[in-house]
Amino acid sequence: MSILNDLKARFIGDQATLALDDIQALILRSRPEPYVGVHAMLHIDEAAGGRALLGRMAEHVPSAAGWTDDRDAWMGLAISFEGLKALGVPQASLESFPLPFQQGMAQRAEQLRDTGANAPEHWDDAFAPGACHIALTIYARDDAALALALDQAMKALDESSGVTLVGRHAFGADEEAKNPFGFRDSISQPLVAGSGVAPLPGQERAIAAGEFILGENSETGKPVAMPEPPELGRNGSYVVLRKYESQAGAFNDFIRGQAHASGGDGGADEELLAAKLVGRWRSGAPLPLAPDHDDPALGADPQRNNGFDYSRDPRGMVCPHASHMRRLNPRDSQLSILTDVNIHRIIRRSSTYGPKWRRELTARDDRGERGIYFIFISARAYDTIEFLQQEWINRGNFIDLGTERDPLVGLHDTPGTFTIPQQPVRRRIDGVGTFNRLRGGEYLFMPSLGALRWIAGGGWQ
Ligand code: HEM
Repeated sequence: MSILNDLKARFIGDQATLALDDIQALILRSRPEPYVGVHAMLHIDEAAGGRALLGRMAEHVPSAAGWTDDRDAWMGLAISFEGLKALGVPQASLESFPLPFQQGMAQRAEQLRDTGANAPEHWDDAFAPGACHIALTIYARDDAALALALDQAMKALDESSGVTLVGRHAFGADEEAKNPFGFRDSISQPLVAGSGVAPLPGQERAIAAGEFILGENSETGKPVAMPEPPELGRNGSYVVLRKYESQAGAFNDFIRGQAHASGGDGGADEELLAAKLVGRWRSGAPLPLAPDHDDPALGADPQRNNGFDYSRDPRGMVCPHASHMRRLNPRDSQLSILTDVNIHRIIRRSSTYGPKWRRELTARDDRGERGIYFIFISARAYDTIEFLQQEWINRGNFIDLGTERDPLVGLHDTPGTFTIPQQPVRRRIDGVGTFNRLRGGEYLFMPSLGALRWIAGGGWQ
């Protein structure tokens, strides 16, 4: 069963306490499998025209109330700080937003450790500082549904004045929903309290809704700061959008080389090493439940594929502390630097673009055509991404690994290492590269449906 269908099956409408009819569906609705879609980045040249377009687009953004309905296509919409400014939102409201949002992603490069190969000077034009005002995402079940939805959106754009399309990028994956490295992804998502979705067997407790939805109580017992006025802030959220160009061939070469260097005979050793780097096998089966070989039935089963913690693997002998999955959600692991993992949980809505991964790819095939739009949603999105980039991705102190970085998304200006705990001595692998290069991104605000109408109608006037 796909992740979306499993979620739908666990939804008990009358148990939802959130204002679902005001929240954008994308916050609760996961991708279909297979999926196709488009990201579009718009620039507002003139406030009235921009507001008119927003009003027209808002009609096509479904609410979370109907998120379990069968839909051929749906849209999510988010606005940058410069976008709110260009739409004419008053200064007092603008100043009530978090400082990192006001500055925008490029200006936060230092806090995000977006330097070297990932620095803003290498980004696409659509993400030049101040270029992306509105980010529009359309997800669809198939190409025909996407064409229809896209037609509608482009018609709204053509009928508008004062808005320019600065970037457009198609994405999609087949029913295996695999990313550019050949791994199934977007599996582990937090359970949002009050959403009406029942927990999975063995799933950790629901995370307070205010971690994801502005105006609701967070894990601290009260809401996180909300932009003003409440008509603008309430039931909205924040979005981090980062476009990565994946070096899938270089990643393949690295794995082949390491498996060969350890005297392995290819195939099985490569797959085990790839799983150790990620924390899951390519099918999505997690190492803690499938330590020795892939188990595609487990990987494809939402009832089982996330039902684990690390209590039986405190030393990382099965799933290395340094693996991408364990770093980004250490669950019950004992960390050297104490952190409340529940305030760093994120809803991921990433989308893969480019041709499908193949085992034969080498670095020579890395021509910038494959990658991921990494998208996450959280009421603390900026604090969380900057914390993750600084501590859990580009350092290793919290797991006693000094300067070792995340093997998938860490920035490696010089080749890095990866540590695999094993008996009698741990194995340390060299040659980890920057396998995902950042090609742009923006900090965005995802307004509620009421707030979209409020902005479109110039509610402050
Ligand atoms: C851009 C390239 C990336 C790739 C190819 C990638 C791939 C994956 C894969 C294969 C998984 C395991 C399956 C799953 O649970 O979805 C995963 C999990 C995860 N990733 Fe990434 N990821 C990327 C970027 C990021 C970034 C930039 C972050 C955070 C800032 C991140 C945060 C997470 C989290 C939180 C999990 C779930 C961990 C858990 O709950 O067990 N990923 N990723």
